[in-house]
Amino acid sequence: MTNQTNQMITAHGLTKTFRSKGQTVEAVRSVDLSVATGELVAFLGPNGAGKSTTLRMLTTLLPPTAGEAIVAGCDIRTDPAGVRRRIGYVGQGNSGGHTQRVRDELHAQGAFYGMGRRETRARSAELIESLELAQVANRQVQSLSGGQKRRLDIALGLIHRPELLFLDEPSTGLDPHSRANLWEHIVELRRATGTTIFLTTHYLDEADQLAERVMVMDNGAVIADDTADALKGSLAGDRVTLTFDSPSDAATAAARIGGEVDGADARVVTVTAPGGDRALPRYIRSLSDAGLEVAAATHRQPTLDDVFLALTGRSLREEAAAPAASAEELETAAA
Ligand SMILES: Nc1ncnc2c1ncn2[C@@H]1O[C@H](COP(=O)(O)OP(=O)(O)OP(=O)(O)O)[C@@H](O)[C@H]1O
Ligand SMILES: [Mg+2]
Repeated sequence: MTNQTNQMITAHGLTKTFRSKGQTVEAVRSVDLSVATGELVAFLGPNGAGKSTTLRMLTTLLPPTAGEAIVAGCDIRTDPAGVRRRIGYVGQGNSGGHTQRVRDELHAQGAFYGMGRRETRARSAELIESLELAQVANRQVQSLSGGQKRRLDIALGLIHRPELLFLDEPSTGLDPHSRANLWEHIVELRRATGTTIFLTTHYLDEADQLAERVMVMDNGAVIADDTADALKGSLAGDRVTLTFDSPSDAATAAARIGGEVDGADARVVTVTAPGGDRALPRYIRSLSDAGLEVAAATHRQPTLDDVFLALTGRSLREEAAAPAASAEELETAAA
């Protein structure tokens, strides 16, 4: 089957239920999604939301309990080999042998995909160049920094020139500088080759700035799917924060303007308002008419965390940016 539509991924009712040791985990619950050819989509969500499980089904590493998906023109159920030939996948955590040299690792990966020796060498050289690995090409993988390792992982995922690249938390655990550098490479790759990229991240600011579309997953379901701007505009609104000299002033003010007293500091009131920059002077006037003096005021644009908060009542930032520890072990147990 060839990819006749402009959809790189379409999935309907994708479901994964794990049963292990008498327990049932509904990891992914009837997910529908579509990704157009050439898109850069970020999959966000707290630990255990089901992001990796969704990716593992789309990449044919896990059979779905129910549902269907066409990935790069191939059906994940009936043509998993076709899917694997056309996609690259860089899993959560590190791939790559430890004592192999970087260049040899790339050559081995090419051989794995059945590429000829000359083609593999040429392609490896190209990736070493474009992912800035030249200085470490003859070093052992275990001696690389976190950012260099992740760039090697991406090179490994790209060796066979896939149309679609899945990256599961490519930037987790890197320092801000390496994260920014990795993203430059991802964005440049996208620009130069038009590769469709579907990635997961815990970093809301990355998803906000760099992805063309954001899908938010929580508790096994996709709960939002749009551009970051559209999500922020429709779900979150601007945040105005007002500080008063006393908690009693704050409580009176909160009642008057429909805000909420901050849980951590009872002198602080926050209120969500569309066009918060204009609303702010209005609030201050109205409160001053009521004899309440505002000691300090700030206004800020909504973030994707505000979107998640609006959707679920919880903050994504409070969730640790660490992978759910036992998923891999559980998988072995369930297999
Ligand atoms: N093989 C497995 N057996 C049993 N449960 C599993 C297995 N793999 C994942 N789970 C469970 O399914 C749920 C979703 O896990 P998944 O790894 O997809 O989440 P995630 O969104 O990728 O989380 P993180 O952000 O921590 O990587 C979790 O409750 C997890 O413990
Ligand atoms: Mg994961």
